[in-house]
Parts: sequence; C-alpha cells; structure tokens
Amino acid sequence: AGGVVLRQVLAAAETLGLDKLEWDSVERIHLYVEALRRTYADRNQLIGDPDFIKIPMEKLLNVDYVADRMADIKANEASLSSKVGAGVERKESEQTTHFSIVDESGMAVANTYTLNGSFGAKVQIPGTGVTLNNEMDDFTAKVGSPNMFGLIQGPQNSIAPGKRMLSSMSPTIVVKDGKLRAVLGSPGGPTITTTVAQILLQILDHGRSLEDAVAATRIHHQWLPDAIWHEADLSPSTALALGKMGHALKERDRIGHANCIEVQEGKLRAVADVERNGGKAAAY
Ligand code: DON
Repeated sequence: AGGVVLRQVLAAAETLGLDKLEWDSVERIHLYVEALRRTYADRNQLIGDPDFIKIPMEKLLNVDYVADRMADIKANEASLSSKVGAGVERKESEQTTHFSIVDESGMAVANTYTLNGSFGAKVQIPGTGVTLNNEMDDFTAKVGSPNMFGLIQGPQNSIAPGKRMLSSMSPTIVVKDGKLRAVLGSPGGPTITTTVAQILLQILDHGRSLEDAVAATRIHHQWLPDAIWHEADLSPSTALALGKMGHALKERDRIGHANCIEVQEGKLRAVADVERNGGKAAAY
C-alpha cells in the first residue's frame, strides 16, 4: 500500500504545484494535508491484500485520476474527511447467494437465498443478527414503474395480504433418465433465470462443457427495458449484427454468479463462477 499511496502523494504534489511553494509555508502544508486526506481515503477503503481483493490499481496510479481527486481542494479551507470518500466506488456484489451440493449417494441441493437488495431492508432485529430482506420490491409496487432491477410488472403481481411476490430465483436440479445430471443456480435478480437458462441450454443442447457454459458471455433480456444486456466480452461483430437487426444493446457488469455441479458417467464435476465473483468448487 505504501508504494501506491506514495505514488499518489507525489502525483498530487505535482498537479498541485507544491514545488513552487515555500516548504514551510501554511499554504503548502494545507495543500499537502488535503492531498494526504484524499490519498488515505483511497488507501483505507480500496487497498488490501491483492490475493483477496481486486485493487483498482490502474486508476489509483493514473496521474489524471489523482489530479481529478485533488480538483476540489480549496486554497484556504480544510475539507472535511467525512465528506471525502474513496475516489473509486467499491462495488458490493449483489446480495443473493447460490450454492449447489451433491453428496456421495447422489442427494442434491440447489440453494438460492436472498436479502434482495444490498443488506435487504438495512434493518437488523436487535440481539438476533437477523437482517430483514426488502423482498417487497419484487412485487409490482406501482404498475408501469420499474423495480430495482428495472422490471416493469403488471397488477397481477401487486401487493396483497398473504400474497407472495414474484421471484426470479431458479435453484435447479436436472434429472435425466432418473439420474442426477446437474445442480445449478445463480444470484442476479432477473438475470438469475436467464443465467440458469444459458448454462442449461449449453450443457444439454449444445454439448458444451460445464466450464465453457459457466464462462460463456452472458446476455439478458427482460422485455422492458427493450434492450439486450450483455457482458463486455460479447463479440463486436455479433453486437454489430444484432444492432443492425434492430436490437438495442447495453453493456453491463458481469451477470450472475453461477455455482454448478454436473454429473457425467457417474463422475461429478463442480464449477464455480470464479471469474465473475470468486468462489470455490470442489468435487471428490
Ligand atoms: O427473488 C428474486 O428474484 C430477487 N429477490 C433476487 C435478488 C437478487 O438476486 C439480488 N442480486 N443479485
């Protein structure tokens, strides 16, 4: 971390022109301290062991980024640390979890469980550690208005006492000829179902390996907004051709986090969606 912070401090000194000011001057010390306030906000919130977290290193080392970070420093007034955040937004993973388990006798569990949004309703029941979900957003709160996943739903899914909201969760156990073939699922709001569909179609219809199926570029459509959401690695020529056919295309961050197991000739193969959001798979 020292190296990154040092490099940011030196870049900040350059963009702020500290070398032109008297070393001991109040003016220089003020600007210097403001630079430290910002570089440490980054250090304390964005940097950790790279074996465990992704550090936005390119950005942090970029001189233009540092210059941008320093741009709101006032010449004669201390800023408040409480108002200075990290310069790069740390993306929390979306909060649903899926795991797949098969035991030696072939018993299978596909478990997707959710708080819905990040930290659900952001309310904990005191003394229990239980966090309440905000599943109410899966209902149609208002016809014609999108929910947090952009779904525009009808009155059939409106709120009523005792009624359950629509869920996209699709924990899936595939059985073929009476034998377990696959266990899969994913988080991702409405992209859950399309993620599971894409993996199933690949392994069952296209004879692709589970590794390839999980790694493949994900695309999603949910009626409205009327656009294909796709991961960044969709081939440009495919995107172009789809665009020419009249499809609107929207790139988005990685879709889903599918943790799957398949069984072939009695052998288990487990694949975690490590590339998208870490995780671990083991079969033995
Ligand atoms: O049941 C559903 O469809 C949603 N509550 C799932 C939310 C979700 O997957 C959040 N993000 N990954």
